[in-house]
Amino acid sequence: MEQRSQWGTRAGFIMAAVGSAVGLGNIWRFPYVAYENGGGAFFIPYLFALLTAGIPILIMEFTIGHKYRGSAPLSFFRMNGKGAEWLGWWGIFVSFVISTYYAVIIAWAMKYTIYSFNMAWGDDTGGFLFGSVLHLADNPGEIGGIVPGVLLPLLLVWAIAFIILLAGVKKGIELANRIFIPTLVVVFLLVVLRAVTLDGAAVGLQAFFKPDLSKLADSTVWVAAYGHIFFSLSIAFAIMITYSSYLPKKSDITNNAFITGFANSGFELLAGIGIFAALGFMATQANVPVGEVATAGVGLAFVVFPQIINEMPGMNGIFGALFFLSLVLAGLTSLISICETYIAGVSDKFNVSRTKSVIIGVGAAALISLLFATNGGLYLLDTADYFINQFGVAAIGLIEVILIAWAFRKLRVFETHANEISDIRVGTLWRICLSVITPIVLGWMMIDLFRKNIYRLHDTDNGNYEGYPDGFILAGGWSVAIFAIVMALIFTAMKWNKKATEFTDYDNR
Ligand code: ALA
Repeated sequence: MEQRSQWGTRAGFIMAAVGSAVGLGNIWRFPYVAYENGGGAFFIPYLFALLTAGIPILIMEFTIGHKYRGSAPLSFFRMNGKGAEWLGWWGIFVSFVISTYYAVIIAWAMKYTIYSFNMAWGDDTGGFLFGSVLHLADNPGEIGGIVPGVLLPLLLVWAIAFIILLAGVKKGIELANRIFIPTLVVVFLLVVLRAVTLDGAAVGLQAFFKPDLSKLADSTVWVAAYGHIFFSLSIAFAIMITYSSYLPKKSDITNNAFITGFANSGFELLAGIGIFAALGFMATQANVPVGEVATAGVGLAFVVFPQIINEMPGMNGIFGALFFLSLVLAGLTSLISICETYIAGVSDKFNVSRTKSVIIGVGAAALISLLFATNGGLYLLDTADYFINQFGVAAIGLIEVILIAWAFRKLRVFETHANEISDIRVGTLWRICLSVITPIVLGWMMIDLFRKNIYRLHDTDNGNYEGYPDGFILAGGWSVAIFAIVMALIFTAMKWNKKATEFTDYDNR
């Protein structure tokens, strides 16, 4: 039987897992989600979600990958046949969709790293982004043509990912993370240190940490916490199963999961501190409350941050370049892990070489990503991101725990497997988190989300997500989420190559 690739060292695996978890989600998504959902009070649901769902699922996914030693579909197939395999493919196609727009955001960040040196964005940072950089169409649904200024860095992003992935698990992914992650930590610490020493930083931090306890009674805050933890920890979309399938037999699982989980949250907290300190500075300069300058996602990183950089007293160019460089580094290490899911899946199922699988997988993703580099790209990206997260990642999380806990009844088997090789032992509490707490909270969340989004299609008062027209939401949102499931079923229906199914797991040798 062909030798499966392996990580070179334990530190190499941890670095790769942290590299996957720490991504665009940590730097620009978390600060705003936390702020919008009660500031300091958000940490209660956030910690609850991390401890009852995030880390328990991470332990479970590490165990699955380690025990069955396969890509997500192969691991699930070995667990419970085709009745489970589709779940692995679903995660892979969700990852596929995510990789196609994730790469585009990294491409923007690359451009902005260069723009920072002479603050090429001028005074109207919003006009610059939507006009000069993205050439954004007037209405969602207008595709227009490919924007050359976005195409170039996008090709560079794919070229980097391609080279790293082609070099393999140890010489490519592990090595890249060993270089990128320590660099990211140093670069980002410099950004945060500069931010907290700016005039007005305390005002921003106060806004970030001041708890609005009344928000705790609001269920949407809890939903936001769970939703964020899944994306941020890279769980429930095939990544961590794939990465842990390259672990050697003698590996710690539970401890590694705690290290990954806490490193990710630590970085997230650091990002929150840095970004809100900078927002406090900007609010103080403009003499307005912090709430007026804090915006979400694209706006925060590519419109508000350039404004902050404009107003900084000296060293602005370097500060900006370091900030955008950290987005590039954090993004690249996550992108690599997202692509590895389908590279491993295709290679396992069809018994093709890694090289072929990288060419097919990355090639297809790069081609589709061009859609997000068009004049209408930003609208598409925004909609695909929302739908694939809610009806992809979160939905898989829910179905994964229900099937494993209640249909396949594997939790005890996994508990034994993890405990045999780990320092920290899991037990009843871990099983309760996965079989009761997470299904209840996530189940409630999914029902609510479905209801809201279906209802919104007919709701002329509140309208759809971002107020986009029905046709656009159906084409750019719902159909993307459905595409992932349909493709999963098609791939599950295909036959396995013989090699993949001849197997004894680590417990039965
Ligand atoms: N976990 C990655 C992120 O936070 C995907 O961006």
